[in-house]
Amino acid sequence: MVKIAPSILSADFSALGKEIKALEKAGADMIHIDVMDGNFVPNLTFGPCVIKALRKETKLPFDVHLMVKNPEIMIPWFAEVGADIITVHAEVCKHLDKTLATIHDYGIKSGVSLNPSTNEDCLKYILDKLDLILIMSVNPGFGGQTFIESQLTKIAAVKELIDGKDIEIEVDGGINPMTAAECIAAGADILVAGTAVFVGGEYQKNINSLR
Ligand code: DX5
Ligand code: ZN
Repeated sequence: MVKIAPSILSADFSALGKEIKALEKAGADMIHIDVMDGNFVPNLTFGPCVIKALRKETKLPFDVHLMVKNPEIMIPWFAEVGADIITVHAEVCKHLDKTLATIHDYGIKSGVSLNPSTNEDCLKYILDKLDLILIMSVNPGFGGQTFIESQLTKIAAVKELIDGKDIEIEVDGGINPMTAAECIAAGADILVAGTAVFVGGEYQKNINSLR
């Protein structure tokens, strides 16, 4: 079954600990944490101290999505406070192969994210260092945007590229029950959802409707 990774970007920031506990109870498979630097993307969110404080609230894996320039500097910051997966953007890594190896040196999973305009060919020679491929189905920076349909073709192309290897395909942005079904049909293993999980406050019902 597809895994659901709620993005706490849509949570109540004044009660993040409680929100994470409620997501765990509602059946979330992991917690998606969108780290933004106000530079790679025009928004600013969580730093390592916030993640450190949240770590004691749940045993669910922390799926840390770094939307930052120079992620190499920040990998130790997030690995040391309890990230289970660290995903970097291909667009900002000059030495992607090396960056992924650095993430693995911390004994955690590595991911690469692709913006909607980025071709998946850049993944071809780093598959052996990858645990997860994060396909952005909106331009990164904000929740609540509309799913970009062209990314369904990319999901299918990435599925073909990984050719049965133990690498998960995660899709992020504009996921709702309708687009979720399209992503699953195209080959997605994990769906990130902010708006669709938090809308109306019925987390369990919302998560179930995405599966
Ligand atoms: C966008 C973030 C997403 C965001 C998704 O840059 O990477 O994780 O929270 O939000 P929704 O599900 O509302 O599109
Ligand atoms: Zn994200």
